[in-house]
Amino acid sequence: MRELIEDARPATAKAMSQIGIDEAEWAHLFRRATVEDHGDAALPCHALARTLNRSPYEIADEVSNLIGDSLEGIADVSSISGFVNFRAQPSWLSGRIESLMPDSRLGIGSEERRTYVVDYSAPNVAKEMHVGHLRSTVIGDAIVRMLEYKGHFVHRENHVGDWGTPFGMLIEHLLDLGEGEAAKDLGVGDLDSFYKQARAKFVSEVEFADRSRQRVVLLQGGDEETLRLWHILVEESMRYFNEVYSMLGVLLTDDDIMGESRYQALLPLVVERLGVAGMLEHSEGADVTYPGGWMNREGEPFPMIIRKADGGYNYSTSDLACIIDRVERLGCDSLLYVVGTPQKQHFQMVFQVAEQAGFMDERHSAVHVNFGSVLDTDGKVLKSREGEVIKLFDLLMEAVSRATAAIEEKNPDLQGEERERVARIIGIGAVKYADLSTERTKDYVFDWERMLSFDGDTAPYLQYAHARICSIFHKWGHDRESLSDSELECALPEECLLARRLVGFSSVVDESTHAYNPHRLCAHLHAIASAFASFYETCPVLSAGDESTVRSRLALCDLTARELELGLELLGIEVPQRM
Ligand code: ARG
Repeated sequence: MRELIEDARPATAKAMSQIGIDEAEWAHLFRRATVEDHGDAALPCHALARTLNRSPYEIADEVSNLIGDSLEGIADVSSISGFVNFRAQPSWLSGRIESLMPDSRLGIGSEERRTYVVDYSAPNVAKEMHVGHLRSTVIGDAIVRMLEYKGHFVHRENHVGDWGTPFGMLIEHLLDLGEGEAAKDLGVGDLDSFYKQARAKFVSEVEFADRSRQRVVLLQGGDEETLRLWHILVEESMRYFNEVYSMLGVLLTDDDIMGESRYQALLPLVVERLGVAGMLEHSEGADVTYPGGWMNREGEPFPMIIRKADGGYNYSTSDLACIIDRVERLGCDSLLYVVGTPQKQHFQMVFQVAEQAGFMDERHSAVHVNFGSVLDTDGKVLKSREGEVIKLFDLLMEAVSRATAAIEEKNPDLQGEERERVARIIGIGAVKYADLSTERTKDYVFDWERMLSFDGDTAPYLQYAHARICSIFHKWGHDRESLSDSELECALPEECLLARRLVGFSSVVDESTHAYNPHRLCAHLHAIASAFASFYETCPVLSAGDESTVRSRLALCDLTARELELGLELLGIEVPQRM
C-alpha cells in the first residue's frame, strides 16, 4: 500500500537513522506486505544484518520499538521474524476512503507518457484462430487498456500471418474450389478444413504442388490477378476474425491490422542494414546472421536466416522489419509482443539482432509478453469433442448459452433482450476472466464449470458482487454522488478489511500494468469482492440504524462497486446492473 508507506516513512526514517542506516539503504526495501495477516506494509531487515552485524530479528525488534507509538493515527507497528510490519489503523483507513470517494480515478495516477506498441491477437489467414490466439487477444487487450488508463499512447498492432509460401497452395485451392464456394467456407470460419485440404493436396499431388510454387512466385512478383485472389483469402478470414473480436468485445479494429504482408517493402532494407553493420554471411546461397550465444543440437552456432537461397524471406526477417517500422515510423519507446511461450527463442534472437544492428537502442525496450498453453481438464491441449481444433466462435457461443442456462436458474425474472445481453456479458466475461486470472506464463485449464461458477475466483462472482451493490442503491433510492463527502467510520473488522483492500486497489493496478500481468489485478478484485461478501454478511447497510453508519457503509458499497467496475473494465469485462 503505497500511501501507507508514504505516511509511515518519516517516523521510519527517524528510527532507521537512530540505528545508523541511511535512507538509501532501506527505502527500496519498504513495500506492500505479501502476507496480509502480518500487515499492509513491511520493511524486511535481512539485508541490513551485514551492515549492522546484528541479526535481522534484533534489528526489526529495535526499529519497531523505536517507532513505538509515533505512528498513532496511521499504523500499528510490530516485528515478526526480521520484518517490521505496519498495519493501517482504522482511522487512517477511513481517511483514505474519504479521499478516494470524490476521485473519479480511484487513486490511480497517470504516468509520464510513453509510446507503446502492443502486438497481439495475430491469427493466420486461412487457418483456424486457435485458443492460443484467444489468449493473446484477451491478455493483449487488457494490457492495452491498462496502459492507456495510465496515460500512455498505445498503438495496437495485429500482426496477422497473411504472407509467405503457404499462400501459393491456399490460392490454388481457392481456385480449385471456385471463388464463391471458397469465400463461403472462409467467411463462416471453416478455416481449419480449408487449410488442411490445401495441405493434403500439396503433399499428395505433384501437379498441385507445382502450381502452388509458381503461385508463390507470382504473388511475390506482385501479379495483379494473384493479389486479387490473395485479397479474397485475407478479407474472408478477417470477416471471421472480426466476428470473434466483436463477440469478445475487444478494442481491435481493421485499422489495427498490420499483417506480415505490410512489411514486404522493408525486407530488402533489413538485408541492406545488416550488411552495412557487417552482420551478414552467405551460407549455401542464403544470407544469414549469427546473433551469438545460440547453438543447434550439434553444438554449432545457430544462424538466423534472413534471406533464403530462393530469394524468399523468413518470419524473423519480417519481425526485424517490423521493429524498424515501429521504432522509426511510429516512434515507439516500448514494444510488447503478446505471443505464446513457444516463440520465446524467436523473439530473443530477433531482439538481439535488432539491438546489434542498431534498429533499437537503450531508449527502447522490447518485451516478449509470453503466455502458457490452454489445456483441457485432463491436462491436454484443448480440442473439440471430435478431436479437431476448436472453432473460437463456437466456443464463445457455448459460453453464452451456458451463461443463459445459469441465469435462467438464478434469476428467472430476467427475460427477453435484457437476459440475452446479460448472458453475453457473463459468458464472455467468464471466458476472459478465466484466462486473465491465471498467471500468464503458466498453462491454463479451460474448465466450463469452474469459470461460470458464481462462487470462487470467477467473473460471475465479481459481477454478482457488483450487481448486488447496484440493488442496494436501487433500494436506497438516492443519488449515489451525494455520498462523495460522507464521513467514514471503520468500526468492525469486516469494514476494516474491505477498506484496506479498497485502499490497496490503485497500487495493484500499477503493479499489474508494470508487470504486464492482468492476473494480479484479477486476484485483487477477487479479494475485494470476497471482503465485500463478509462485510455484507455482518454489517447491515440500509438497516444499520443511525444515519451516519448507513452513509458510511453505503460509501464503502459505492467504492466497492466503482473499483470492481473500473477494474473489470481495465480487463475488458463488462458488468451488468442486475443478473
Ligand atoms: N501469426 C503468428 C502465430 O500465429 C503470431 C505473430 C506474433 N507477432 C509477431 N510480431 N511475430 O504464431
